[in-house]
Amino acid sequence: MLVSPSLLSANFANLSSDIEKINQSEADYLHLDVMDGVFVPNISFGFPVIEAVSEICKKPLDVHLMIVEPQKWIERLKDCGAEIMNVHLEACLHLDRTVNAIHEAGMKAGVTLNPATPVSLLEDIIEQLDLVLLMSVNPGFGGQKFIQNTIKKVKELRNLIEKTNSKALIEVDGGVNENTGKLLAEAGADILVAGNYVFKSENILERIHILKMIS
Ligand code: DX5
Ligand code: ZN
Repeated sequence: MLVSPSLLSANFANLSSDIEKINQSEADYLHLDVMDGVFVPNISFGFPVIEAVSEICKKPLDVHLMIVEPQKWIERLKDCGAEIMNVHLEACLHLDRTVNAIHEAGMKAGVTLNPATPVSLLEDIIEQLDLVLLMSVNPGFGGQKFIQNTIKKVKELRNLIEKTNSKALIEVDGGVNENTGKLLAEAGADILVAGNYVFKSENILERIHILKMIS
């Protein structure tokens, strides 16, 4: 299993210590949650923080933009050192244009779906995507309860990816732990995002290892 710990649950007063642990861990990415207080009812952090994290983090940055008009920030995010730019389908009026612009900027393009957004809306874009991020909680906060309907959506997305020969990876975000992680793996998920499960633990490296071992 690929693992992308979410920095949202880290200690913001001592980010460098938590990032050092991520560097030493088996994590495959570092997940960064940007919130604008408009698309979601919360504000997290923005580009100066991503830039600072990028300077010390050895893992590729998997950036999840919970913001309106994400297309305005493609170049800015590229300059911050992001590897993957995830935009919400619900925030993009011209999704095809935005995905093309992300690729032109040299990043991998991910499209994120809220829990109530059906997988079928990806039919006409799936072949162009590097990743689909399925939200298994309503975005905006860490530490929420996993929405079980996500399992069905992962299976539907796996079928769509196989049918279209898309190379897109399936990433799931929200309420992930060793139990929900197993169900997601069985359903066909490739990447697990985990905030609370990893950073609110005494042993960050062990929690990442447990998720990593899920097959
Ligand atoms: C929620 C964020 C998540 C969050 C997950 O809006 O997108 O990445 O950090 O946190 P947990 O794993 O605690 O549910
Ligand atoms: Zn996220």
